[in-house]
Amino acid sequence: MRSTSHPDDARTLAGSASLASSASLPGGTWMLGDLTVTRFGYGAMQLAGPQVMGPPADHDGALAVLREVVELGITHIDTSDAYGPRITNRLIREALHPYPESLHIVTKVGATRDQQGGWPPARKPDDLRRAVHENLENLGVEVLDLVNLRLGNAEGPQPGSLAEPFETLVDLQRQGLIRHLGVSTATAQQIAEAQAIAPIVCVQNMYNLAFRQDDELIDTLAEQGIAYVPYFPLGGFSPLQSAALSAVAARLAATPMSVALAWLLRRSPNILLIPGTSSVAHLRENVAGAGLSLSDEDLADLDKIGR
Ligand SMILES: NC(=O)c1ccc[n+]([C@@H]2O[C@H](COP(=O)([O-])OP(=O)(O)OC[C@H]3O[C@@H](n4cnc5c(N)ncnc54)[C@H](OP(=O)(O)O)[C@@H]3O)[C@@H](O)[C@H]2O)c1
Repeated sequence: MRSTSHPDDARTLAGSASLASSASLPGGTWMLGDLTVTRFGYGAMQLAGPQVMGPPADHDGALAVLREVVELGITHIDTSDAYGPRITNRLIREALHPYPESLHIVTKVGATRDQQGGWPPARKPDDLRRAVHENLENLGVEVLDLVNLRLGNAEGPQPGSLAEPFETLVDLQRQGLIRHLGVSTATAQQIAEAQAIAPIVCVQNMYNLAFRQDDELIDTLAEQGIAYVPYFPLGGFSPLQSAALSAVAARLAATPMSVALAWLLRRSPNILLIPGTSSVAHLRENVAGAGLSLSDEDLADLDKIGR
């Protein structure tokens, strides 16, 4: 990741000899276009304050989580200037800038925040241009590795053309400000519409063991070599709860969260994990847990949950 210079450069993690080997993370790696990322990534949304508004209660703790992400060898961080707003991007910059070459930060545009903590759409061309420039500034980079266009609303994907906002991002990509594009909270029709305009390298939609609306889409994208990045892999604001999940976890002497992550990695090779946490201990637990090995019996029991 190419960073702009910054006064805090002395605190660089780049080239740190203690970086763990990315190859040893559960799931191995995936190519997002020409960028290699670990399939085990990290979602930064939980680092902002309550309701994803304002700064974290524990600023140093948030920096420690981000530094641990890199120490563990994770090379994919998911973020947005809507988190906080601007809080998580600035924390990422404070903790990790200048970035290790191997680290790829994925951001999203298309929504803003209101005083009540809502997420109103901001998909007009001017909104998107401003958002891309603000992300560049807040992350301290010259080029954004991957920008997802966030569609839909709190109820999920909504039908309608994405042509105008997506073409605006393609224009910013041609200007050299964005390397790769993706879409989020998108319908299959919108994904096809985007692909007719320009290549995408990922789709980020809600999906987990108990919420499987995108099963068919995941398989289609896998055939096309496009990543599927499920948000709320652990259930998001309401942790996954299922008797069948608890039973499999008990059988394996593991936590339900570990089983849920291990299942996602097994579900399809194009699935990239971005579980969120504000805790170093949970981050380590999740990395270890995603490496659980699931038997055919486990998979059959888990497969019944979201169907
Ligand atoms: N495209 C979109 O519209 C969209 C929407 C939502 C999210 N996202 C992205 O997706 C990422 C993942 O979603 P998410 O963070 O909302 O939900 P998530 O990963 O499903 O779950 C996060 C929640 O699980 C808890 N947790 C994590 N590991 C745990 C563990 N080992 N033990 C106990 N609790 C644990 C976290 O609490 P602690 O902090 O206490 O660990 C947090 O409350 C976000 O960070 C964001 O980057 C994208």
